[in-house]
Amino acid sequence: MARLLIVHHTPSPSVQTMLESVLSGARNEDITGVEVDTRPALGATVPDVLAADAVVLGTTANIGYMSGALKHFFDTVYYPCLTDTAGLPYSLYVHGNSDTTGAVRAVEGIASGMSWQRHRPPVTVVGDPDGDDRDSCWELGAVTALAALEHAGEE
Ligand SMILES: Cc1cc2nc3c(=O)[nH]c(=O)nc-3n(C[C@H](O)[C@H](O)[C@H](O)COP(=O)(O)O)c2cc1C
Repeated sequence: MARLLIVHHTPSPSVQTMLESVLSGARNEDITGVEVDTRPALGATVPDVLAADAVVLGTTANIGYMSGALKHFFDTVYYPCLTDTAGLPYSLYVHGNSDTTGAVRAVEGIASGMSWQRHRPPVTVVGDPDGDDRDSCWELGAVTALAALEHAGEE
């Protein structure tokens, strides 16, 4: 069984909508053989990451950066996972109310430092997620679940 780990910071209904769409895509019935686990960013652990075949990261934009919760996640797992998770596929969704650029840059910088492989461009939403945004999140979840399957097959 491949494992997809979703590490998210979800402080409001808008961000919950994005998470639910990602989950729905990752767990859609056309994808078999992938276990999908969700962890709030403040509760995700080193063993969670070491067991993952792909990761979806979800965060809000806060003061031009990722959320403190996701930063804490990276502070927790960076060195313990640095050697063993090189090449791990990941994807990212970000919610903000004005500008998500700094949050995307920050996450991609750290993920790149860990040698994780960005699986596709991030989904960014400003304001209330509409139908297209939900579809983009759904697709992000689905394709990252498939990446987990592929990565598990390579090991
Ligand atoms: C302290 C603080 C800083 C924030 N900084 C940013 C920011 O730099 N860029 C942005 O787009 N939104 C920013 N926001 C808005 C949050 O990203 C937004 O509240 C969050 O995504 C949840 O969305 P919602 O409030 O519409 O439900 C900030 C919010 C707070 C509380």
